[in-house]
Amino acid sequence: MTIPTSIQWKDDELIILNQQKLPLITEYLTLTTIEEVYDAIVTLKVRGAPAIGIAGAYGLASAASRYETEDVKQFHRLLQKDFDYIVSSRPTAVNLMWALKRLLASSQAATSVAGAKAALLAEAIIIHEEDETFCKKIGDYTLSLLADKTNVMTICNAGSIATAKYGTALAPFHLGQERGKQFNVYACETRPLFQGARLTVWELQQSGVDVTLITDSMAAHTIQAKGIEAIIVGADRIAANGDTANKIGTMNLAILANAFNIPFYVAAPSSTFDVSIQDGADIPIEERPAEEVTTMNGQQVAPLETKVFNPAFDVTPAKYITAIITEKGILEPDYVESIGELFGVYSKQ
Ligand code: MRU
Repeated sequence: MTIPTSIQWKDDELIILNQQKLPLITEYLTLTTIEEVYDAIVTLKVRGAPAIGIAGAYGLASAASRYETEDVKQFHRLLQKDFDYIVSSRPTAVNLMWALKRLLASSQAATSVAGAKAALLAEAIIIHEEDETFCKKIGDYTLSLLADKTNVMTICNAGSIATAKYGTALAPFHLGQERGKQFNVYACETRPLFQGARLTVWELQQSGVDVTLITDSMAAHTIQAKGIEAIIVGADRIAANGDTANKIGTMNLAILANAFNIPFYVAAPSSTFDVSIQDGADIPIEERPAEEVTTMNGQQVAPLETKVFNPAFDVTPAKYITAIITEKGILEPDYVESIGELFGVYSKQ
């Protein structure tokens, strides 16, 4: 049994697991140009907030390594252009912007182009390694929070393949498996692109975790019928007040958790917080092509020309979130206070 991973930096090349093809085909792609990295992010070959940040960082470092100028100012102009291009690939997950900004900052002090190139790659590698460490910590904290609860529901894939390793929401299940704690995980299929059915089920099966697939519309009944004790999800962006953007359908689960009086947990590294945004109303929500809703596996399921609304994320109000689990510890309401303290931006009046 193995915990799968999706991003490798090997022999100066970025290699990703093509998540578009899972679970039927396990294909690895080498991404060379910045356009290939952009395309892989837009088409969800690489996906999940932390993984997008890591892939974007390697993509930018690798593009910069091929700039031919020896002039540092010109180098930074080219870097800014590629930064703007990659950052525009997906708007909701703040981890992408966060990782790319870290790269820009890392190269600022360099006095030569060679020095700047080396700094960019070194920073991308640190971001990658850090994420694995952080996800493991999130898993440890979540295991302690779940205590003797075993029946847990999740949505989308906030797993190992959406991060460097272990995942956020799925980290406790992988770690539990390694340590002899058995969970019964209920995975919502996650329409329209089936990240739950295709990716979470596959990933948990790879590491030997007991997982049961349900359609999104079965969540309420399943909570009741199967005695779900907690719901845990990942995040794409968390505002300063705790409002959390995550895969579309997450808010439905939060409201259900509230109605059934079970805890609703968000698991995310600190790179997913955006304290420049006061609340969820300011989080940009990506809207994706209509065909994702009108077709399934390339097969048309709705009348041609059907009018579609296809938001990829929703924003769960902080009031429905029992706790937010980060690598730095477990945050509880009042989130303005607990998040503010974590980021050093809160001072009691
Ligand atoms: O559109 P996706 O598949 O990139 O959406 C991913 C999610 O919503 C995840 O839950 C989130 O990015 C957290 S991944 C650890």
